[in-house]
Order: sequence, then structure tokens, then C-alpha cells
Amino acid sequence: MKHYSSIYNLNNLQKTVKEAIELKGKPLEYEALGKGKTICLLFFNNSLRTRLSTQKAAQNLGMQTIVMNFGSEGWQLEFEDGAVMNEHKSEHIKEAAKVISQYCDIVAIRAFALLNNKEKDEAEIVLNNFKKYASVPVVNMESAIGHPLQALADAITIEENKIINKPKVVLSWAPHPKALPHAVANSFVEMMQLQDVDFVITHPEGYELNPEITKNSMIEYNQEKAFENADFIYVKNWSSYKEYGQVLKTDSEWMITANKMKLTNNAKFMHCLPVRRNVVVTDEVIDSKNSIVIEQANNRTYSAQIILKKILENL
Ligand code: CP
Repeated sequence: MKHYSSIYNLNNLQKTVKEAIELKGKPLEYEALGKGKTICLLFFNNSLRTRLSTQKAAQNLGMQTIVMNFGSEGWQLEFEDGAVMNEHKSEHIKEAAKVISQYCDIVAIRAFALLNNKEKDEAEIVLNNFKKYASVPVVNMESAIGHPLQALADAITIEENKIINKPKVVLSWAPHPKALPHAVANSFVEMMQLQDVDFVITHPEGYELNPEITKNSMIEYNQEKAFENADFIYVKNWSSYKEYGQVLKTDSEWMITANKMKLTNNAKFMHCLPVRRNVVVTDEVIDSKNSIVIEQANNRTYSAQIILKKILENL
């Protein structure tokens, strides 16, 4: 594997999930693999889990890490070919990506959707230009439309916590005051479509995700009906895709409550974090013994580590 920009870069997801679980049991076994190698982590947006877990994963593999908050510390980048750079953008991606490639063996990028232009977001301008101009492998730490490291951690968490062979997994929309991107939900849908699970998506009308992504998945507009017999409730807010980037609904009707969880098959509660308590989910649910959000965040390390291991083995 050269780049990891989407879960489709992995040719056997179920095998990768198993390999990540094995790695979790012996995280320092491949410490020699990354010796003398460096990863640059470039953040155009904020992060807690992705930043720390990817650093930890690289260190477990013996790599050096360089972290830069590009959004606030780097020169503002120009991505357009042929641009006359006489305004506020100081550096072109063509130089920046090539220069960064000289300092590291892998570059990882976080660059969210701006949510004001669907076509531009779907063009994945930041990620794709790094892939185009960098001479080292590129890892997606959440781009405009995907968060494949999160989706792999989610699959690992489900595999570790399932008590039946084919669990029912529900992805539920929940309210949030701000417009959030679709990346986590998109990658989770793609991941569940390739796992041996009974998968249902539930959200209010108007919150349909990109139909190209959800076309093979069941959508149930009645949240309570969707929750029946669920083994995992995976919660995430996203803004409208059709009315691109708009927040259509903020009331608490779709918040995850203990009463809704009672409809399930004693389901585990999952969320990628950060989460707004008592807006997305009640304290009672996230603090319950069925909440596995902390374990899910822990698996971000092993999701990143298995990906970096595969890239290092291919350098
Ligand atoms: N889930 C996730 O990506 O967390 P951060 O935004 O804190 O990195």
C-alpha cells in the first residue's frame, strides 16, 4: 500500500482488523521497522485523538514524528495551477509538498470540508494535491469527505465487542448546534458495507448522506424502529448533504437517551468523539457501562499503527 486516503486502499479489511487487534497485544514488536524514519503530521484543523494516537502509533513503530499546525503556523497555501499569487496566499502546494517530502518518509494530513461548496470539498483539494506533488506516501487524518483511520478503529472496536457473529449496527444521526462535515459518517458507512454486519442508517429526512456512498445500505427514517434489536449504536452528527452544509434541525428529538437505548439488544454505545454531552447523547448513556467510546478512542492508535506498518513495509 502506498497512500492511505480511503478504506478502499486496503485490499482485505477484515484481515486488517484482525492484524490490528494482534498488534494491540504486542505494540512494540515492530519497533525496529520505523527506525530512522520520520512522519510529518500536518493539521489544517484541530484534533485531540488523531494527533496523539497517530504520534503514539508512529513511536510504537520506532519512527520520529514532526507535528505542524499548518492552519495557524504554516504559510497559507495556494492550490490552483497558474494562480497569480498577489493576494494573501504565500506558498504554492507544488513547492510546499516537495519541500515537506524531503523532511519525512510519510506525510499525514488533516484538512476538513469547508461546507460551502460541495464540488470543491468533493475534489479533496488539499489531500489530492499532497498526493500529486509529495514524493512520499500520504495518510488521510480526516479529509473533506473521509476519515478512514477513524473507520478502521471503529471496525476494530466492533470486532472486539461483538458477542454474535453478525451484529446489528445502527448509524444514528443526532443533533448538534454547528454544521459538521460528513467525513466520519461516510467512512463508517463504507466500512460497515464491507464488514459482516446487519447495517442500518437512521436520520431525519433531509439528512441523507451522499447517495453514491449509501446506495447499498438500508435507511430507516424512524430512529426508534432502527434501534430495535441493535447490538451497536454508532452516533454522529452531520450537516445536510442535499442542502449542502446546512443545519436543518437542532431540537433534542433525535438525542440519544437511555429510553432509546432500552429498545436495543443491550447495545454498545459508540461515538468517534469529541461529543457534546446532553445535546448529542445524555450523560446517562455515555457514562453507562455500555458506552465504549474510550476504548474506541484507544483503538485509534492501533488503526494508525497497522496502516503505518503496511506503508513502512512497502517503502
Ligand atoms: N475522532 C477524531 O478524529 O478526534 P479528533 O478530532 O480529536 O482527532
